[in-house]
Amino acid sequence: LLIAQVTDPHVSTAGAALYGGYVPDRAFARALERLAGLEPRPDFVWLTGDLVDHGTADEYARFRELIAGFELPTAAIPGNHDRRDTFAAGLAGTGVAIGTEPFLHLVVEDHPIRMIGLDTVGPGDAGELCPARLAWLAARLAEAPDRPTLIFMHHPPFLTGIRAMDALRCMDGDGLAAIVAPHGQVLGVSAGHVHRSVQTGFAGTAGNVCPSVAWAVPLDLASDDPTRLVPQEPGFQLHLWRPGIGLVTHTEFLPGPA
Ligand SMILES: [Fe+2]
Repeated sequence: LLIAQVTDPHVSTAGAALYGGYVPDRAFARALERLAGLEPRPDFVWLTGDLVDHGTADEYARFRELIAGFELPTAAIPGNHDRRDTFAAGLAGTGVAIGTEPFLHLVVEDHPIRMIGLDTVGPGDAGELCPARLAWLAARLAEAPDRPTLIFMHHPPFLTGIRAMDALRCMDGDGLAAIVAPHGQVLGVSAGHVHRSVQTGFAGTAGNVCPSVAWAVPLDLASDDPTRLVPQEPGFQLHLWRPGIGLVTHTEFLPGPA
């Protein structure tokens, strides 16, 4: 089983250049093209939030144009730059699987690994998992305790040392850890949002952040300053699951700037 994760494309309107010249259309299109051309092809693709930059209907219309013709089975969860209403309306009919309101969680079955996508969108840019959302996850994990499970969410529930982004993490990480820790079937928790590749342990399992397909948050482990954003090569990850190996995550960057 090969699972691709693409996060934070921040698609804007056609041709728009953001944050020092990064062009989200071009970067996202290049990432999709690379994924579709991989051998072996990914069995499933997760888009882990910030699909567009401002959450407007115009931006989701552009997103639909970019994803049209992309044939790999795909699911999406929202990030802080998405808006649940325009996200749901914008993805309707595209073939990209999403959850149903009030929270856009979803479970993908029918693969050797069970995959759960969590909606961590809060009222601001930081993430949250309120009691209702934690209860939903606890019920999902309890119903399949013997199936290897991978959890996807936009906001990481752990600290990274990059303080400007840590202030915007999923603030209910302790609550999530209390639910995940007793469930040995959880192979890991994989997020986006930080716009860098980060790995750690979380609740007795693996914690991972996939790099963005868009700009990067610079490596700044010293300051509390608001983060400067810089263009980077578009990046994505492949989570490989094979009997005898287990779960291994590979990070790939496309050569050249977005
Ligand atoms: Fe983002």
